[in-house]
Amino acid sequence: MGSVKVNNLIKSFGDFTALKNIDLDIKEGEFFALLGPSGCGKTTMMRCIAGFEKPTSGKIFIGDQEVEDVPANKRNTGMVFQSYALFPHMNVFENVAYSLNIKQLNKSNPFKQASIYARLLNKRLGKTPKDIETKVMEILKYVELDQHAHRLTSELSGGQQQRVALARALVMEPAVLLMDEPLSNLDQKLRHSMRNTIRRIQQELGITTIFVTHDQEEAMSMADRVAVMDAGNIIQIGTPTDLYSNPATPFIANFVGTSNILKGTVVGEENGLYHVEGEGFSLKSTKKSTKKEVDVIIRPEHVQVVASDSIIDTADTNVIQGTVLMSTYLGSIVRYDVQVGVYQLVIDTTYSSGESIYEAGKEVKLTVAHERVLLI
Ligand SMILES: Nc1ncnc2c1ncn2[C@@H]1O[C@H](COP(=O)(O)OP(=O)(O)O)[C@@H](O)[C@H]1O
Ligand SMILES: [Mg+2]
Repeated sequence: MGSVKVNNLIKSFGDFTALKNIDLDIKEGEFFALLGPSGCGKTTMMRCIAGFEKPTSGKIFIGDQEVEDVPANKRNTGMVFQSYALFPHMNVFENVAYSLNIKQLNKSNPFKQASIYARLLNKRLGKTPKDIETKVMEILKYVELDQHAHRLTSELSGGQQQRVALARALVMEPAVLLMDEPLSNLDQKLRHSMRNTIRRIQQELGITTIFVTHDQEEAMSMADRVAVMDAGNIIQIGTPTDLYSNPATPFIANFVGTSNILKGTVVGEENGLYHVEGEGFSLKSTKKSTKKEVDVIIRPEHVQVVASDSIIDTADTNVIQGTVLMSTYLGSIVRYDVQVGVYQLVIDTTYSSGESIYEAGKEVKLTVAHERVLLI
């Protein structure tokens, strides 16, 4: 019912192609994030699924139904916009009840083409039938706004307005909830608590959700799976852990968390360890590489910093010589910038009070486990 499939979707505006052959397969009940920098085509993708934009070619299925020719209001999707798009002259209750009222009137009213319909509608909007009232109040409870049902939306805080927008989409019981950067107008603290609210409601209702964001932390902390987009393409789809541990490209390694990226050449393989060399470093990796020229990816938290006179068995781990450029104390971690050959590596080490911190200019050894060296 609520699955979404997109096959070979292309969307062009004149001679500019905003979406280049997109494939998506989103499961019923899944929380799916589209993540990518501004301008990469996220909103265009959502508008195609919602029916506000017609694809140039390709297919979209919602459940079993192919929908390219189905109008937006018949697609059984609910959309939450970045700008909320609430009616400022209506209160919370009326904003949420509005679409239900119209739906019911459309069903029951034979004069809906006549101008009297508009007047009837206005009259009726003031008198919501009991079943609609019950439903609206139930949804308002979900988003914790039942106490504010009679406030004008213009009197609400940003977070409350966002929850009205969410309630308004949910009350229609859509098969698919589409949210386009819904948290980007909120301040940092509110953004965090709204993440939890949205995730809780999504899980309780089990509603298929497509969530657009340019904020990697938001996508990684909320979604079951994430599709990373760049310039109209999907570069990789995976769970947050997949993307973090096995980024498909240097772009993703950089976009999803912080990475050290070094250029290397694979010079040989021995006992399942791939030897890779570059300017100022020589490393071994358990990761198989089919290419000779590779990007070597090392996450900051996968490196340890030890004194330069420490004796370490290189059979067990990689050891690299470096010089500390800067150390930054960040509470429970210390971040080091270390010069290694031509590269400046970022390293995060956990810090317990009383430990010494290596100062700028200090020669150090860096250790990194063979399985933590990614070759892509
Ligand atoms: N109606 C339109 N006409 C022409 N170009 C458009 C239109 N809508 C979007 N674009 C272009 O398509 C690209 C993707 O836009 P959009 O989907 O809004 O990106 P995102 O939501 O990822 O920031 C942008 O370069 C944008 O300028
Ligand atoms: Mg957008």
